[in-house]
Amino acid sequence: MDRLWLDALELVGVDGAGATRAGGKLLRPALCLMAAGAIGATDLKRYVRLAASFESLHIASLAHDDVLDRALLRRGAASLSGLWDNHAAVLGGDYLVARAVEMLAEYDSCTVIAKAIRSVRRMAEGELFFFNRDRDAITHEDCIMLARQKTASLFAEACSAPSYVVDEAYREPLFEFGDQLGIAFQLVDDILDVTQPTEKLGKPACGDVLEGKRTIPIMYLRDALTGADRERLDAMENAEITDADRAWIIEQAHETGAQERAEALTRDFADRARAALTQLPESPYRDAMDGIIDFVLVRGA
Ligand code: FPP
Ligand code: MG
Repeated sequence: MDRLWLDALELVGVDGAGATRAGGKLLRPALCLMAAGAIGATDLKRYVRLAASFESLHIASLAHDDVLDRALLRRGAASLSGLWDNHAAVLGGDYLVARAVEMLAEYDSCTVIAKAIRSVRRMAEGELFFFNRDRDAITHEDCIMLARQKTASLFAEACSAPSYVVDEAYREPLFEFGDQLGIAFQLVDDILDVTQPTEKLGKPACGDVLEGKRTIPIMYLRDALTGADRERLDAMENAEITDADRAWIIEQAHETGAQERAEALTRDFADRARAALTQLPESPYRDAMDGIIDFVLVRGA
């Protein structure tokens, strides 16, 4: 059993300090440490375990998400459920949530734990809202709500967590920054799904269409398509799709302007993240957080 967990941790990329070996970007822990520095923390080593707890929660959510989405690939390699089975992936996710809570508890603050766990609740609520929902009743606002719940909630807590330990005065701008950046991040992810080929994505292209998800770029694409084209797209939901279908979706996302429209919306969220940063004192950490906004946007370019 020990060997199983060691392998699981190796695969998902978390060790005791939250380092990764599985190709993740470590955005959430990086943002947590930058936020601590930006509001005056002097010894960032004190916050490494706080930061690591957010990566642990993130990887736990992905392990469970890959079960829900029946995804065999994650970060260009086998997902936990793909490598073993759903059983191992669910338990592996549970294990990583427990590890995160233990690390959070080291800060002797119920608030730190409660706020981090609030993001787990919000992630689950977001997923549950869409469970068995009539796809045609889903609105653009619902899609933004899902991005906020399933992705931005963890960004917002990772960014604002240091405020509970260092200086509460900056809690709101840090939360706002994480919330807006997290939505932009999810929109970029959704755009990449329908604009990039499988080789670049590290997972099958147009997976969201295949899974019957309604993301912002898919909603915009449906808005733009009519007649047989719209029917062709809708027929791909929860069905087989060929390489030619994938190439057609990527072409249509571009040709119809759906990609451009989704990118413009993403930039609005990125701008609001940037505006939130101006409420923090000037520092190299604040500049680095600003740089992360560009990194998130460039990922989608
Ligand atoms: C990825 O979305 C999914 C998430 C960001 C959140 C998933 C959350 C849960 C399953 C709730 C349970 C949470 C915990 C911590 C146990 P996606 O499918 O659009 O992204 P992908 O393409 O990377 O899979
Ligand atoms: Mg998924």
